[in-house]
Amino acid sequence: MKNAEAIRHAAGIIKKGGIGAFPTETVYGLGANAFNPLAVARVFEVKGRPSFDPLIIHVAHPQDLERLVKEIPSPAKKLMKRFWPGPLTVVLLKKEEVPDIVTAGLPSVAVRMPKHPMTLRLIDEGGCPLVGPSANPFGYLSPTTAEHVRKQLGDQIDFILDGGPCEVGVESTIVSFHEGAPRLLRPGGVPLEEVESIIGKVDITPVEKEKPLAPGMLPKHYAPRTPIIIDHHDKTLPTYRDKKIGLLAFQDPTTSFPFQHIEVLSKKGDMKEAAANLFAAIRRLDALNLDMIIAEAIPEVGLGRAIMDRLRRASGVPHP
Ligand code: TXA
Ligand code: MG
Repeated sequence: MKNAEAIRHAAGIIKKGGIGAFPTETVYGLGANAFNPLAVARVFEVKGRPSFDPLIIHVAHPQDLERLVKEIPSPAKKLMKRFWPGPLTVVLLKKEEVPDIVTAGLPSVAVRMPKHPMTLRLIDEGGCPLVGPSANPFGYLSPTTAEHVRKQLGDQIDFILDGGPCEVGVESTIVSFHEGAPRLLRPGGVPLEEVESIIGKVDITPVEKEKPLAPGMLPKHYAPRTPIIIDHHDKTLPTYRDKKIGLLAFQDPTTSFPFQHIEVLSKKGDMKEAAANLFAAIRRLDALNLDMIIAEAIPEVGLGRAIMDRLRRASGVPHP
């Protein structure tokens, strides 16, 4: 199917209350009309996602926020101006009309304008903003290709729009504004340094509440089936000699350990390339029935912060 036709087909399904996967620059999303609570409920069901975990609403134009939020504080406006369309989500006070199922009953709503022409057109043709959690079963790695979605959710959803591999590869950066001072809820595709260069200091202390504000912040999340540990100490490695171990390396590794398989995120040591390859590389390792995956730690600057965040959560040890 040609793109235009595929988009028209998908938009028709969305209008009728169906659900399907759409490409973004970060990861693939599982879309439904944000104003159709039944369709949104099906998204939760298909993902196996707990209902206390609110969804991001995707818009095609900044003006679309008028239907969704009460007000946009000026630092939020500045970020939207600089990074939209792009991997930035802002959390703002919601309008009454936004269904509670979308926000898990919170007074705030997360919104973003993704950078992918097919999805922007899908939102326009569908005539409604789209909820879009990552299109993976809850707790598993986010999909960065249409094939990833097809394998895990293909038979449970109504369409998959194939927009090629995701350019950024880690989810959007989430900054909340509804409590006043800006707060980082999830590091992601826009580095914290770039956010702070526009609006100054952002609170990065994790939110401790019974309802996690961003369950991407749950301790065990983005996890493969294979146990994953971060960093290897050459002293402990030899004790694993009889085990099947995979290595997730940042650059070409210098190791004599007989790894079963090695995935290199970026030969030239480029963070952008590493982020774009991250989830697909972990998926490939996860498919090999290894006893363990060892992931190299990388510097936590720029996109390195989001990459290390995802690696820690995949390993079940969220904080350094
Ligand atoms: O890059 C992305 O953001 C991708 C693509 C598809 O757009 N979407 C994505 O959605 O990562 P999801 O559902 O996997 O993660 C959304 C995160 C969750 O951790 C959720 O808790 C948080 O956003 N969130 C949503 N609404 C919120 C709210 N009102 N307050 C705080 N956190 C919120
Ligand atoms: Mg997710």
